[in-house]
Amino acid sequence: MSLRVGVVGATGKMGRVVCAQVLEDPALELVAAVARSNAGAPFDTYVGRSTGLPVSDRREALLEARAQVAVDFTHPDAVLANARWYLEHGLHAVVGTTGLGPDDVEALRALAEKNGTNAVVAPDFSFGGAVLLHIARIAARHFPYVELLETHLPSKAEAPSGTTMNTARELAKVRPSPSPVVTSRELAPGVRGGEVAGIRVHSLRLPGPPGIEEIRLARAGELLTISLAAYDRAPFANGAVLAIKAVASRPGLTYGLGPLLDLDGD
Ligand SMILES: NC(=O)c1ccc[n+]([C@@H]2O[C@H](COP(=O)([O-])OP(=O)(O)OC[C@H]3O[C@@H](n4cnc5c(N)ncnc54)[C@H](OP(=O)(O)O)[C@@H]3O)[C@@H](O)[C@H]2O)c1
Repeated sequence: MSLRVGVVGATGKMGRVVCAQVLEDPALELVAAVARSNAGAPFDTYVGRSTGLPVSDRREALLEARAQVAVDFTHPDAVLANARWYLEHGLHAVVGTTGLGPDDVEALRALAEKNGTNAVVAPDFSFGGAVLLHIARIAARHFPYVELLETHLPSKAEAPSGTTMNTARELAKVRPSPSPVVTSRELAPGVRGGEVAGIRVHSLRLPGPPGIEEIRLARAGELLTISLAAYDRAPFANGAVLAIKAVASRPGLTYGLGPLLDLDGD
């Protein structure tokens, strides 16, 4: 029997790609497509194939369609309320929308445990992103200087990217302390970038793919650069589909794709 999946943010850039992969997978059934606008429009036009589904602008459409898993690729402003709602309404949740801070994730973990519903939350669902973080965690233990650089489209909702926010927080947990002192005086405001969890981050916004996440680590006389380019959105949808299939069998909240890929230490 196939797993019944509802996607919220289904008409968006990520939502469409996730829906297309769900529709292609014989183990999955797309039963609801939710967005903020265009309610009643045929969903077919968004995925270029016959689905028989209208776009709905109500989360309740997931319950009416007896969805088992809710997938969220919406907006940072909406994600926390959405995720709470799924977990409180008997739905397992796969949350790819960025913008959840550590406190939000812990609140959702408690909610999942209380309600007996499960969640997989990942600001980066790509296999490459999980491997990048895994390698960087190892490297950051030995390289005290760390700076992050990310490049995305000018239309991206946030800066820095959710991946970079998460990478900074994770590397801050393992890097040697105290962090090294950089003495350069800024001659132009902000020229040294922003700071997340004590790590410098730099966001470039340029038209045209790909999205690039780069980590530069250094120690005296050595520079290690780890870089990942995403040429389209399919890699993120691949990981989301893996999470959709895994979420029912992972009690509580799983953070990141690493644990689903059996990466040691994740
Ligand atoms: N985890 C990952 O691997 C990964 C990868 C890429 C992107 N992301 C994140 O995923 C999110 C979506 O990105 P995107 O590029 O697909 O955005 P997008 O193209 O703007 O699409 C957003 C979708 O969400 C809907 N939406 C917006 N606000 C909503 C609300 N309050 N309630 C219900 N639906 C709402 C939009 O509907 P309307 O158009 O009708 O408003 C649209 O269908 C962002 O946070 C992005 O950073 C995560």
